[in-house]
Amino acid sequence: MSTSSTQLGQPVSRVDGRAKVTGEAKYAAEFHVTGLTYGQVVSSTIARGRIKTLDTSEALALPGVLQIFTHENRPRLAWFDRSYRDDDAPSGSPFRPLADDKILYSGQPVALVVAETLELARHAASLIRLEYETREHETDLHARRGKAYEPSQGKDGFEPPPKPRGHADKALSKAAVQIDAEYASPVEHHNPMEMHASTVIYEDDGSLTIYDKTQGVQNSQKYVSKVFNLPKEQVHVLSPFVGGAFGSGLRPQYQLFLAVMAARELKRPVRVVLTRQQMFTFGHRPATLQRVALGASADGTLEAIIHEAVGETSRFEDYIEVVVNWAGMLYRCDNFRFDYKVAQLDCYTPLDMRAPGAVLGVYALECAMDELAHKAGVDPLALRLKNYSERDQNKDKPYSSKELRACYQQGAERFGWARRNPAPRSMREGTQLVGWGMATGIWDAMQQPSSARAVLSIDGKLTVSSATSDIGTGTYTVMTQIAAETLGLRVQDVTFKLGDSSLPMAPIEGGSWTVSSVGSAVKQACEKVREQLFTFARKVEGSPLAKARLEDVSFSGGAIRLTAEPDKAVTLTQAMRQGDVLSIAEDALATPAPQQMQYTRCSHSAVFAEVKVDEALGTVRVTRVVSAIAGGRVLNPKTARSQVLGGIVWGIGMALQEETAIDQTLGRFMNHNLAEYHVPVNADVQGLEVLFVDEEDAIVNALGAKGLGEIGIVGVAAAIANAVFHATGKRVRSLPITLDKLL
Ligand code: MOS
Repeated sequence: MSTSSTQLGQPVSRVDGRAKVTGEAKYAAEFHVTGLTYGQVVSSTIARGRIKTLDTSEALALPGVLQIFTHENRPRLAWFDRSYRDDDAPSGSPFRPLADDKILYSGQPVALVVAETLELARHAASLIRLEYETREHETDLHARRGKAYEPSQGKDGFEPPPKPRGHADKALSKAAVQIDAEYASPVEHHNPMEMHASTVIYEDDGSLTIYDKTQGVQNSQKYVSKVFNLPKEQVHVLSPFVGGAFGSGLRPQYQLFLAVMAARELKRPVRVVLTRQQMFTFGHRPATLQRVALGASADGTLEAIIHEAVGETSRFEDYIEVVVNWAGMLYRCDNFRFDYKVAQLDCYTPLDMRAPGAVLGVYALECAMDELAHKAGVDPLALRLKNYSERDQNKDKPYSSKELRACYQQGAERFGWARRNPAPRSMREGTQLVGWGMATGIWDAMQQPSSARAVLSIDGKLTVSSATSDIGTGTYTVMTQIAAETLGLRVQDVTFKLGDSSLPMAPIEGGSWTVSSVGSAVKQACEKVREQLFTFARKVEGSPLAKARLEDVSFSGGAIRLTAEPDKAVTLTQAMRQGDVLSIAEDALATPAPQQMQYTRCSHSAVFAEVKVDEALGTVRVTRVVSAIAGGRVLNPKTARSQVLGGIVWGIGMALQEETAIDQTLGRFMNHNLAEYHVPVNADVQGLEVLFVDEEDAIVNALGAKGLGEIGIVGVAAAIANAVFHATGKRVRSLPITLDKLL
């Protein structure tokens, strides 16, 4: 593991794995400081109206209760006077905790109790008496569907639906085979193991040290600095470890606001941790109602695609995600029309959740494709291949790379798809109906401007840093590998630092863009160190590299070597002695290459699933999933596989279990705990296989890696839903597919 070509592509175990399993890795609510106080949030019990009376006297009278913050006594703050949006905010006006007496959604924070102990804070919170004046609320997407509108587009990276092409409605009505179906997906909530938490340490000079659960320390830093009108230098945000996030940490959440406010007012350290129930009060995957209509010739050639979706948003922001565009990228067709609208509900603004939009739109599209295959009598896989699109028709651009065909072929072969009997209910094992289904997945391969700093010291140790995050995806590990590879060091000689707002600029960790973005910056910073080392190495007395060019040498085993004659070398230490330096430090800012704009850049997948359905009971077991992924170069097959496995498991949950149920009378999410919000457990997960197909891509970034955090979940629910149809002959068009819908 010491030569330059072996670091990338190796299944290196997580460099932070030991810290995580031994408890040495600390999360936002685990940083201790003397004099720490504890905040407990009080949540509204109505969905809409205003607070009429608020009585905190009994709670305040308890010895040890320090203060109770409400809209009546909160400090005047900078952001209440002007508009401010965080790095993941859609257009609108971000939620402002304790701004006034108005209640905008059930679960809204209405007070923060701060006490000397957590138990006391929780007890005191239960003593606060609130009276509300309720107004009629609307939380039912079905009922609000008619009021849906095209959302304003104010979010980076959001692609509005393309203009219609051809005459989709006409072509549909004339098509030999027609499918016109409606699909529904429910609200889902992010349920990371780690609850959202902020520990805020108030320093004597008024500056703040904040341990926050976030996917972007600099996003949180900007938020606190804007809201509280503090110079950025006085706001230090740290988040070295994150216990899962899935998008829930993309926006600063209200516990950060409340903890900072309390710490500044009390001039004491304050920690606010949300309860599991409160984890259901700040954003969710929106429910959608979707119509997919497909028209095809008798042999299955697509002639019309219509995809319409209505999603939900809040009263204060226009949440947007890309739900309907994907068919124009996956399937060749001359006539298509895509339509995306949102309807306002008296709920919090939805929030990006793993592969936002794509997970929902591709579910409906890929189920409709299965319905078309069945109706046309064409094999579902053959139907995809027949309509395969070599270009992105939405933008009329080529793909930077697209090995989806290889995904279909290799996935099908591994799964044994050719042995599938196409007739529903034709494959049986005793009382179990066996079903095989497949679907396609797609996600964007994006790059955001990012920076990194590399510092090599004369003892051969390299420290690289960037203000990015590791939400469990393996950022620490892969960045370490990229740095080690570039400078020919061993991974154990490299330390990567992240999760600190004072480090070089990095975007929020999301969109599967971290390897592409931060990885490129790490590579460039290390390349600058290389150049500096090489300049010194050539000047070493009797240097075998004196006449060499940078292209002629390799960095490996702590030395710079002539590639043609590896024994002729100058060690990194020799080079640095020659330069008379104890360390070399370089910064780099990596930005997307302009040529990227000429291409559409995506990762793809083909997912094959087997289910067994008990004919009498309607219970569904997913017994096998094969997911074949084209995600560019795989930098670490171990962490990459883990990402995709996690995606498949979540896809099983999406297909069969996950749903946040809302009581429309109360306007409130009811199953806000892990006993009643079902996610897959070990017993639900059987044979999962992940294949990575070879895919070269010189366009996406210098690493050729597309990012794998999200593609793993896309398509999984559709593959399972299609397998359920194949097993039972019953088409369930609303998720999750629970047994009551099958019987
Ligand atoms: Mo992901 S939903 O971009 O954290």
